[in-house]
Amino acid sequence: RTPEAPAKAAPEVVEIAFTLNGTPVRMAVPADRSALDVLRQDLGVTTLKAGCSPQGVCGACAAIVDGRSRVTCTMKARSLDGREVLTHDGIATAEADIYAEAFARAGGTQCGYCTPGIVMATKALLDRDPDPDEAAIRKALNMHVCRCTGWVRIFDSIRLAARLRRGEAVEDEAGGGGVGRPWQRAEVREAVLGRRPYIADMTRPGMLHGAIVWTPHARCRVDRIDASAARAMPGVRAVATAADLPGDRKVGLIFRDWRVLVAEGEETRCANDVLAVVAADTPEQARAAAAAVRLEVTELEPLLDMEEAARRPEQVLAVSRVRKGDVDAALAGRDDLVVVEETFHTQAIDQAFLEPEASLVVPDGEGGFTVYSAGQGVYDDQRQLCELFGLPPERVRVVLVPTGGGFGAKEDLNVQPHAMLLARLTGRPVLLALTMAESARMHPKRHPMRLRYTVAADREGRLVAVRAHILGDTGGYASVGDKVLERAAGHAAGPYRVPNVEVEAVTVYTNNPVAGAMRGFGVNQAAFAMEGCLERLADRLGLDPFEFRMKNLLEPGDVFATGQVMNEGLGVKRALEALRPHYERAKAAGRAVGLACAIKNVGMGNGLREVGRVELEVVSPATVVLHTGFTEMGQGHDTVMAQMAAEASGLPPDRFRVSCSTAVAVETGMTTASRATYLGGNAARVAGEALRAALAEVGGDLGALVGRRFRGEWTAPATHKPEEGTELLARGEHPVTHYAFGTAAQLAILDEKGGLEEIVAAHDVGRAINPITVSGQVEGGVFMGIGQALSEDATPDDKGLPVDRYAKLGIVKARNMPKVTTILVEHPDPDGPWGAKGIGEIGLVPTAPAIAAAIHAHSGEWPTRLPMRDTPAARSVGARRSR
Ligand code: FES
Ligand code: FES
Repeated sequence: RTPEAPAKAAPEVVEIAFTLNGTPVRMAVPADRSALDVLRQDLGVTTLKAGCSPQGVCGACAAIVDGRSRVTCTMKARSLDGREVLTHDGIATAEADIYAEAFARAGGTQCGYCTPGIVMATKALLDRDPDPDEAAIRKALNMHVCRCTGWVRIFDSIRLAARLRRGEAVEDEAGGGGVGRPWQRAEVREAVLGRRPYIADMTRPGMLHGAIVWTPHARCRVDRIDASAARAMPGVRAVATAADLPGDRKVGLIFRDWRVLVAEGEETRCANDVLAVVAADTPEQARAAAAAVRLEVTELEPLLDMEEAARRPEQVLAVSRVRKGDVDAALAGRDDLVVVEETFHTQAIDQAFLEPEASLVVPDGEGGFTVYSAGQGVYDDQRQLCELFGLPPERVRVVLVPTGGGFGAKEDLNVQPHAMLLARLTGRPVLLALTMAESARMHPKRHPMRLRYTVAADREGRLVAVRAHILGDTGGYASVGDKVLERAAGHAAGPYRVPNVEVEAVTVYTNNPVAGAMRGFGVNQAAFAMEGCLERLADRLGLDPFEFRMKNLLEPGDVFATGQVMNEGLGVKRALEALRPHYERAKAAGRAVGLACAIKNVGMGNGLREVGRVELEVVSPATVVLHTGFTEMGQGHDTVMAQMAAEASGLPPDRFRVSCSTAVAVETGMTTASRATYLGGNAARVAGEALRAALAEVGGDLGALVGRRFRGEWTAPATHKPEEGTELLARGEHPVTHYAFGTAAQLAILDEKGGLEEIVAAHDVGRAINPITVSGQVEGGVFMGIGQALSEDATPDDKGLPVDRYAKLGIVKARNMPKVTTILVEHPDPDGPWGAKGIGEIGLVPTAPAIAAAIHAHSGEWPTRLPMRDTPAARSVGARRSR
């Protein structure tokens, strides 16, 4: 039972006077209110972003106070008294343009959420040091986090800003901006300066604010929810519980099992569970009322061990199997084979995007709603909301607001249903924006897995068989857990020619936080295990790991683990070959090195019919709106879509403005599985060519086409469902599990002391539609892969509660980021737009195994568990020691 909240004394109010961007401000503020809340909420300075607030570790809220860049979420507003505060609005236009230009051109921004704060740090640095060296740049970024870019291009951006500030002429290579050029949209510049609104920056007349009441335990019986005191509090307009939500209250992308609200009498299943939601006039009132909701619960023993869960049939969500050839027969009586057996463990990881979940829902007064969502699929959001509220699609319009990072975690619905319920109850717009600690409770994480492997090769170094049993913990609700384990199973043998493969992947429910989609989608975990076995085999066989891989890598015409015959688009050997000079250089220098190769599906495949759709709407003589169903979340989707539409139509890319909402029928499915560039790009090509033909008829006069719409639709080559694949294989035929693959090879190089010195990443991207954005995806992926390998860990506590302190997630800081060298290999895909492949995820698939191999080369130890914390490599990236 939650105790009665003691009556709080009204906070002391203090008078403060300071200058904000040169303008004097005098106001009375509660003494305990943060400077960020005063600046953002009371004074409307939304260029300051609330990332980890009030934890003070991400830098998104940075302003310049008395000439120094400071985070404002941990400053008390009273300490602003007598100070000079500078935010983006106070920077002269010409100088602001320099930062916008530098960060856009050098690719120093992706989702943009960190960028306004980093620009403030940049300005403060360049004001005192116009030509900083890299050490000074890294130091200036000490209080910042960027989860997207991998830092490399932020360093470049700051150097470029310094040059532009010093008046140096710097050539712009964007050229016409079509396919293959490093062009950037105007919106990117807006985001750099903090002017592009995220959902939490939006406001509507009469808008209320929402807050959530979370379960106090991972597993408990909810005996009573008493909201009477909360309802009576000042400013409170509604307190909603499960009783206010008709129907079964469940949502889910595949299995509809996730309760939006848990009712009295029910058991909670994990820390993600919500018991009530509150709407009030201000965020503070809503949170105070949420804290005043009295809960009577009976705590129950949580099931947190996935091995124990696997022993209970009722806890098993799904089992995926891959079988090719006959492993038993291949191994039987073969004394000549070298066989490696090993068990690997990988950890839960938080996507750790900087923009906590938020949704704004605006009722239209006639039973319909506009839902502003930062999700990864507006149509899936719409479908689930319609099912939940029993509404037809025309009553629920979902509009995508470009997202401050997602990495898979925003595929599932998050706060959209709660905001919509409150909007329905109150008839008023409701903004529900989580804090970072709440965000840790809301979104699914990367699946922890246990992978038991047996891999055999003959004495000549040819792989003969792979057997794997993989167990993954999906937590309290399914999310996309079965698909993650299915993907791990399908990719279990990596990009290698293995005639006999037998894999079983089991997904179990526990009472841990939900696990779901995260960049790499199960393939990373399998790569760590498979590549680890290859290293052991090469060692036992006395073969060079480079040549051992070269000998076994798949080539066009070879058969993948799932039985699929690989097409001519497979470029993994070219990727590994591109590493050869770096490998030889590092070895000649006596460095410990590690290699890994990777393959990752593009598109969901597995029998799903996948269609890319785009509609080009000519809205003025200068503007064409490109309607898409895919989410821009920092990966550069909107930029490359404009480039591809431009290339196909012959118009310059800055004519295209990208829009994503359910208002136009361009359903494309989720922005996931590295599929948006591939599917959307093909659709943009079709639509762009139709526009080009129409332009030719009117002498190139776009104005003559105002009001016209040009639709592009492209259906991906058909694939087979897993069960169909099994039948085909049994008949000696070959299924198609995925219509395309991206591949990569990475090299980890350690310094003399075993610190991580460099990652060289060679990625077959098919065609670099935009070399800056595609390199940024690789670098951001490598950065996350380093974290997965050495420092990141979101393992919940022994009660099943998630890590909710951002600083404890182990994200690599700027000062600790090693050198990353990216090599783009352009081996075209036969069906990809201009030959391009989707590469959003593969950047980190080979990183952890490459680092593991390098650690072995240095220490002789064989790593089996992620993160590899107690190593010199981990210490070199600032990882904490094991608890
Ligand atoms: Fe203030 Fe993160 S440091 S929002
Ligand atoms: Fe830095 Fe997304 S661009 S957090």
